[in-house]
Amino acid sequence: MPELLERELDRFAREHPRSRELAREAEASLLQGVPMPWMVRWAGGFPVFAVEATGARFRDVDGHEYVDFCLGDTAAMTGHSPEPTVRAVAEQARRGITLMLPSEDALWVGRELARRFGLPRWQFALTATDANRFAIRLCRELTGRPKILVFNWCYHGSVDETFATLSDGRVVARQGNVGPPVPLAETTRVVEWNDVEALEHELVYGDVACVLTEPALTNVGIVLPDDGFHRALRDVTRRTGTLLIVDETHTLCAGPGGYTAAHGLEPDVVTVGKAIAGGIPAAAYGFSEEVAWQLEALLPRDEYADIGGIGGTVAANVLSLAAMRATLADVLTDAAFERMIRLGERFEAGVAGAIERHGLSWHVTRLGCRVEYLFRPERPRNGSEAAAGGDPELDRLLHLYALNRGILLTPFHNMALMSPATSEEDLDLHTAVFDEIAGELG
Ligand SMILES: Cc1ncc(COP(=O)(O)O)c(C=O)c1O
Repeated sequence: MPELLERELDRFAREHPRSRELAREAEASLLQGVPMPWMVRWAGGFPVFAVEATGARFRDVDGHEYVDFCLGDTAAMTGHSPEPTVRAVAEQARRGITLMLPSEDALWVGRELARRFGLPRWQFALTATDANRFAIRLCRELTGRPKILVFNWCYHGSVDETFATLSDGRVVARQGNVGPPVPLAETTRVVEWNDVEALEHELVYGDVACVLTEPALTNVGIVLPDDGFHRALRDVTRRTGTLLIVDETHTLCAGPGGYTAAHGLEPDVVTVGKAIAGGIPAAAYGFSEEVAWQLEALLPRDEYADIGGIGGTVAANVLSLAAMRATLADVLTDAAFERMIRLGERFEAGVAGAIERHGLSWHVTRLGCRVEYLFRPERPRNGSEAAAGGDPELDRLLHLYALNRGILLTPFHNMALMSPATSEEDLDLHTAVFDEIAGELG
């Protein structure tokens, strides 16, 4: 494998001279040579610089065209620059960008999110991280409890409390966590996904304000819930007076109302971000009627309303809301999801066929229009098992191999996402390339 990686690294460097030049120049003005730390992680040693992205494709500064299955790590699940969103943004930008006043679009979006997710009342933020942060704060305020509970190997954005992990049964900060404000055990309880007994054990202490979870883990590969897990989770949270926040930021891939609507979940709070405005920064968090009513009784409407740690100057700006309205009305429609999920099935079948043909002990999992492969034979049942199935070297080789053949996968795992603009030919190109590398490795 090291020779294969060497070969692919050489090819990448040879075929991307302009990107390499720009990456070198960037070192003078950007910390670590990149505008955002995650971008140091691209497989070729330097990132590809893009010049244009439309639909499911983009072109780079060296003239290569790529099929994009990364789609901005979900934020462009709509496809790049979808026409209805672009039109709405252009029109709104001429009529105001941010005012600290509501627009009618906010009402429309609130109603539409209520229809999709089944929670009646909504607020807006600019990122899913913020939506989670605000939701946690509100849950703490409502319950008077200090802690939250998350599942091991979760990811919910750069929310301090969520960078907790289990090490020999103890809660510690995840490796790589930058500048934690306090030891994570002070803020967070952690249990393995699908472990109902551990969940019960941790919640009976009575100090957890809320469980924050994705409805299926997606950030350590996809880890699906066991049958009955969500029922048990809802049960024990209700019994212990713990609020349940379901983070649908990635699992929106399961359908127009995310996993919550697709599987009839009953969370107290839903958070969602990334794709809902076609890539324009926007996020939302919604409440059950009961929680909304309790919050309204509790939250200030006076001079303290703007210093409580919720909201933000440009949150709910009219540009984001116009983008959300257009995206929900005309891009991420019910019909679009049907087609995207069918494409996901085709992608999954292509990968599964190649794994079988070449006798590899890997597997592929799909959640709606999101597909992911992992380097172990069986599906993991929790985050630790999934993490143990990771192989950074193989991961890098696969990503680079694909990139050199015109395919962009999500950098942090082997994830591919279907957009309304993705075509069957795009999938078939991936299947052919995946088959080729599987042949070299098998
Ligand atoms: C489930 C989940 N929630 C929240 C976030 C945070 O999103 P953002 O980085 O846009 O704030 C992420 C980011 O990957 C995520 O995967």
